[in-house]
Amino acid sequence: MERTLIIVKPDAVGKNFSGDIIKRFENNGFKLSGAKFIKMDKKKAEGFYYVHKERPFFGSLVDFMTSGPVFVISLKKDNAVKDARKLIGATNPSNAEAGTIRKDFAESIERNAIHGSDSTESAQFEVGYFFKAEELL
Ligand code: RTP
Ligand code: MG
Repeated sequence: MERTLIIVKPDAVGKNFSGDIIKRFENNGFKLSGAKFIKMDKKKAEGFYYVHKERPFFGSLVDFMTSGPVFVISLKKDNAVKDARKLIGATNPSNAEAGTIRKDFAESIERNAIHGSDSTESAQFEVGYFFKAEELL
């Protein structure tokens, strides 16, 4: 079994989509492995998105991710990283396929409802960034 990291972003939490989004994963064979409801400060969000620090959207992304609470969730399943990305859909909801989470819940390329780890290596870094070993099943 593999772990991946999901974040229900401030736009989706604000619109009460957290439960619906978690349900999508539960309906598709994922098991909850860890969860916390937090508001990130600037340092926490910048560290999480450090791979994007040279991108033009970095400042705006950090402002958005610190604008309200987020649901941080670790999920378990065989091929969790790849299968979660498939359920999540394209970064820009206008390009996301029908039935994907971003198609149904995202507003825009930035306010796109959810984060999902993009590789096994980033999943390991990201799960460890939010959870201690004893907080994970
Ligand atoms: P994520 O990391 O959140 O799962 O999203 P992703 O892999 O599909 O997209 P990524 O390229 O990693 O971008 C991270 C997040 O930055 C925001 N973004 N804004 N304004 C823009 O052009 C732009 N591009 C990306 C989105 O919130 C995206 O999810
Ligand atoms: Mg990404």
